[in-house]
Amino acid sequence: MISARTKSGAVRPGLDHPVQNPSRLQQSRRDFIGTLGFATAALTCAVPAWMCLRAYVPNVLYEPPRRLKVGPLARFTEGATYLPDQRAFVFREKDTLFSIGARCTHLGCTVQLAKMPEVEGGYEFHCPCHGSKFRADGTNFAGPAPSPLPYYTLDIAAEDDQLILDMSVLADKGWRLTVRS
Ligand code: FES
Repeated sequence: MISARTKSGAVRPGLDHPVQNPSRLQQSRRDFIGTLGFATAALTCAVPAWMCLRAYVPNVLYEPPRRLKVGPLARFTEGATYLPDQRAFVFREKDTLFSIGARCTHLGCTVQLAKMPEVEGGYEFHCPCHGSKFRADGTNFAGPAPSPLPYYTLDIAAEDDQLILDMSVLADKGWRLTVRS
């Protein structure tokens, strides 16, 4: 039991708070400072090491190619062929081909081809998200879509006669690729 002295000088047995051992207090302070020093040193080494490693990873955004071969010409028969990976339609009318993008010009949903024999062109594009509609030539006429669907450029690869879809170059509405039969 440890005693304590009151204000009046009387000695009171027992203590409200145990007195800490000063050498143990110093030891725990030393431990804390040591740990803090170690953490700071580790952080100082880790940051430049991470930056060095990061420098070996190229800061490049990988995007799918915008110009690519989409198959032999024979794949594209009369009418519409949908290319899901490119979100584009390729239309063939005898010896001419053209491509219309299927990405809605409102918020980018994929439009669907709706066959409608009663309308000019025989079909329309309908967007399932907010109801935009486009005529067969891609012109927007209903819903929130602010502009027509894009036309992409087509080409034939010289080396193997495959059709090339080039989404990096937009074409005018009347643009057509003519191929020999
Ligand atoms: S994304 Fe097509 S109408 Fe909204």
